[in-house]
Amino acid sequence: MSRLTELISKYDVSIPRYTSYPTVPYWEDNLTTDTWIDQLRMACHLNQASLAFYVHVPFCESLCTFCGCNSSITKDHSKEAPYVDLVLREFEAYLKMVPELKNIPALELHLGGGTPTFLSSGELRRLTKGILGSNPAWSPECSIEIDPRRVKREQLETLRELGYERVSLGVQDFNPEVQRLINRIQPFEVTRDVTHWARELGFKSVNFDLIFGLPKQTAELMLDSARKTIELRPDRIALYSYAHVPWIKPAQRLFTEDDLPKGAEKRRLYELARVELLNSGYQEIGLDHFALPTDSLSQSASKGQLHRNFMGYTHRRTNILLGLGVSAISETPTAFHQNQKVLQLYERDIGEQKIPTLRGHLLTDEDRRAREQILNLITKMRTSISPTDRSSVATMLKPMIDDGLAQLTETEVLIEEQGRPFLRNACVAFDRRLQNKQPETRIFSQSV
Ligand SMILES: C[S@@+](CC[C@H](N)C(=O)[O-])C[C@H]1O[C@@H](n2cnc3c(N)ncnc32)[C@H](O)[C@@H]1O
Ligand code: SF4
Repeated sequence: MSRLTELISKYDVSIPRYTSYPTVPYWEDNLTTDTWIDQLRMACHLNQASLAFYVHVPFCESLCTFCGCNSSITKDHSKEAPYVDLVLREFEAYLKMVPELKNIPALELHLGGGTPTFLSSGELRRLTKGILGSNPAWSPECSIEIDPRRVKREQLETLRELGYERVSLGVQDFNPEVQRLINRIQPFEVTRDVTHWARELGFKSVNFDLIFGLPKQTAELMLDSARKTIELRPDRIALYSYAHVPWIKPAQRLFTEDDLPKGAEKRRLYELARVELLNSGYQEIGLDHFALPTDSLSQSASKGQLHRNFMGYTHRRTNILLGLGVSAISETPTAFHQNQKVLQLYERDIGEQKIPTLRGHLLTDEDRRAREQILNLITKMRTSISPTDRSSVATMLKPMIDDGLAQLTETEVLIEEQGRPFLRNACVAFDRRLQNKQPETRIFSQSV
């Protein structure tokens, strides 16, 4: 057995992806809308408060069977305008309750989904202007997720005109057989053409989303996807581990389990693509990202300024994330808040002029410390530890230290380069909530 195979069989367990701490299943649901508004207001008064907007557009025209996102499948485009109305009404309600929001700089606006380019040019314009028009001083970096199979050049032209600078293209895998199995036929030429449009129109950064661990993906196919990606040279690449959670996403049951690469075989796909990308000038960032040295993500990683929130890695830190739209998550230094996940309930709450709270979590001081440490690990591969934490962290990390994957000094934990595949396992050492209460049912995907 190779060393990596051995390590993978030891560390491939079901653990969180740490897009937040505490992770969503551990939120205490101790946040009413009123408390949430208080927390948001408090955050606006912080020294150097800064704001990022995330808008969730849930619609997609067809279902990709691997998908773990909150999406609503429809071809009915008459849903666009009423949905944009709802989001703008939600935003208006926030401005009324927390007028201080207008006093702080907005650094980012990200449209995600589902598929934000389900919206026509007109609705994309109305949505963007409806938010940014509230404060003429706001000029955030705008980014959007795009489905290359359906986006029109004219939509990209509108986005450029509106000031969008970054696009993220869903690619997943270039192989036709893998694409057939995930119900996502997307010829290479389609991705190529959209990438070229984005370049011609002057978008500053193009990202590709790729996934390893999809059904029938082999080493050869993964290498081919990596090479096709390199040929198109996106500035950033997210190479996600396929999260297999059929108990939450039943469409994933359509796969034959035997077709899914697992454990060491799955991780090998990542390693092969990784070597190919590194040899072609990309830098590895954090958990599962790559970027060209010219991209702001690489630059901020080398300056130790990388940040990560629910939207993924970002090149600078914002301390308030305001999520708008169905299922959107917001965060401040002291609280998390999630909107209703079911469209009808989101619609009902907005109709009743309420903030559409589904659930939330008020962070304790211990949560805040652990959140910072996990963020440090995921963005910088190191974190400081206090004398009080040291002995419990030392016990939890002992196997990783013995295996040469992590180092522990008096004041710091450091993840070695060979420990990078097991970064999420190291985060568990700081996750007191998981340590104190193991889930009774399966909720997280495997770590590899
Ligand atoms: C909202 S989609 C991207 C935009 C657009 N809907 C598209 O698919 O082209 C977000 C990304 O999440 C990733 N994703 C979705 N489900 C996943 C899963 N089960 N495991 C890993 N990554 C997943 C995919 O790479 C996908 O591109
Ligand atoms: S991967 Fe994108 S297009 Fe496919 S179902 Fe998920 S959100 Fe929709």
